[in-house]
Amino acid sequence: MSSIDSVLTETRVFPPSDAFRLQANVSGLEAYHTLCEQANNDYEGFWGQLAREQLSWHKPFTQVLDERNPPFYRWFGDGELNVSYNCLDRHLPLLANKLAIIFESDNGTVTRVTYAELYRRVCQFANGLKSLGITKGDRVVIYMPMSIEAVVAMQGCARIGAIHSVVFGGFSSKSLQERIIDAKARLVVTANEGVRGGKLVPLKATVDEALAAGGCDSVERVVVYKRAVHEDGPWQIGRDIWWHDLVKGKPEHCEPTWVNAEDPLFILYTSGSTGKPKGVQHSSAGYLLGAINTMRWTFDYKPADIFWCTADVGWITGHSYVAYGPLAVGATQLIFEGVPTYPDAGRFWQMIEQHKVTTFYTAPTAIRSLIKLGGDLPAQYDLSSLRLLGTVGEPINPEAWVWYHEKVGGGRCPIVDTWWQTETGSHMITPLPGAVATKPGSCTLPLPGIQADIVDEAGFPVENGKGGFLVIKRPFPSQVRTLWNDPERFKKAYFPEEYNGKYYLAGDSAHRDEQGYFWIMGRIDDVLNVSGHRLGTMEIESALVANPLVAEAAVVGKPHEIKGESIVAFVVLKGPRPSGDEARQIIANLREWVGSEIGALAKPDEIRFGDNLPKTRSGKIMRRLLRAIAKGEEITQDVSTLENPAILQQLQESV
Ligand code: WTA
Repeated sequence: MSSIDSVLTETRVFPPSDAFRLQANVSGLEAYHTLCEQANNDYEGFWGQLAREQLSWHKPFTQVLDERNPPFYRWFGDGELNVSYNCLDRHLPLLANKLAIIFESDNGTVTRVTYAELYRRVCQFANGLKSLGITKGDRVVIYMPMSIEAVVAMQGCARIGAIHSVVFGGFSSKSLQERIIDAKARLVVTANEGVRGGKLVPLKATVDEALAAGGCDSVERVVVYKRAVHEDGPWQIGRDIWWHDLVKGKPEHCEPTWVNAEDPLFILYTSGSTGKPKGVQHSSAGYLLGAINTMRWTFDYKPADIFWCTADVGWITGHSYVAYGPLAVGATQLIFEGVPTYPDAGRFWQMIEQHKVTTFYTAPTAIRSLIKLGGDLPAQYDLSSLRLLGTVGEPINPEAWVWYHEKVGGGRCPIVDTWWQTETGSHMITPLPGAVATKPGSCTLPLPGIQADIVDEAGFPVENGKGGFLVIKRPFPSQVRTLWNDPERFKKAYFPEEYNGKYYLAGDSAHRDEQGYFWIMGRIDDVLNVSGHRLGTMEIESALVANPLVAEAAVVGKPHEIKGESIVAFVVLKGPRPSGDEARQIIANLREWVGSEIGALAKPDEIRFGDNLPKTRSGKIMRRLLRAIAKGEEITQDVSTLENPAILQQLQESV
């Protein structure tokens, strides 16, 4: 395990304003401490009460936490509910005419959907799924653009107890195929095309390719939402069915299928330290409780809010804070089809002004690129509706934080820097905006009931100021339940024996300052964080070595001003080391290759060729040396165990 040892020295502190604190759901630091104490004194009582208050149960649970079979914990395990019922039906008596979704398309067309209308659409789609024979426990892969329909598809699955697995629309047909096979999906839901930044994204064609590549025999039908009015591509009769044909004439009510609290709501694939993505499996009740609590705690949700989380539904952030959390609390939310830079870098600010957004949640990488492309643009818009800002996915550098605070938040909006993961389902460490003073670059303090700590290799807490491994010491309701098809990997990856299998190991290094604030330093495993997206170095290496020209490859991350981290690949070809135009051509081809193996997001930013890679005598690639070379640092480390020290110079010169 390696860790990033840069320790930020940020000293500015931003306490909540009186105005914000006085209206906050958790008001003042004492209120936060009281909640934490309640959780510590009676852990199960604390969570049990929240689960009873915040979720609507079909059959109430009698047991809160079942720890008999660690680390396969069960929460509210004898209760029954339905997630879609909790997001829709229960709001209808009072909120039927409240807007659930304001959707803005790439070219600015706005569609508004009330809770009553969303309920009808979800029910019709759920009835459509039933008519195709989909039932509880079946897997449905969703490969959709940002749209109302993507949310309808997810909610429709939840309504009948089917397990969805959303695949981000930027993943290639190969990645899609792998996920379909691993999940043994019976159905794929897609759109003919997506539209982003004025360009068409050929989603259905990619699905066709994935299914044609073999191994996807489990897939019976493909439901296609007609998004773009472009020529229709090939159509497989008997397999493909238009969304509008599927829902036509279907009843507008669909009795929810009651599921056990622990029945899986979804699988979401994410990168780990091997080449194979992990199918993170989430529960129904515990997961939804996490989303609801954090809407109220972190986002200080109020019924008059216009909530906007810019994440794609293909990521966990889009699950918890687009598809489920906002609907479960009855919020009005904005969903955006396009990209922040189209038609120009003022798009986000223009949309905040137009829709009077109150709560805005985005990634540091987006903030950094918007600063670069138009740091003065926010001043041209009326952003006075905003009351709270958030960030997610990667550490935010203090400069970007301060810009966000001043230029977007007008100095008055608290910023919640939310640390969490696909595996945790909802926020873990983040300020409560009316209670905890913020410091630029720190995700501050754990939420009530979340027993986060920083420990050394033996599991002992490290002293403040020292780096260590971020762990969560007790199970919490929204945590990953297992890895789909791979319980052994689940145990190994997250509950290491060094910690007696008790602590959840997050995979991040962190340190705490003298006030006990958490500062995330980076991943301890071979996972990169590129523009807030998780990518495994091994995944990219496997993709590279699958190319017929490539003998060997090693991939490392390098700090990048906007993306947080960029991807640098060191490649040994089977043939001689290329140079000049030939090298440039091969680099272009290899980048395309990785794009088609994984997706454009995984294309290396830099590729360097060598005759070999730096290895120990036992043949292990010395990645820390490669990281130093990628950064252009002088090599000060001990290289005496290196089999072939001369290779270092060659790689250093290979830019
Ligand atoms: C990183 C995204 C610093 C971290 C929700 C984590 C962060 C990984 C933050 C999970 C943050 C997420 N500050 N780092 N506020 N939020 N990370 O699964 O390394 O896509 O382990 O979930 O992103 O990425 P994932």
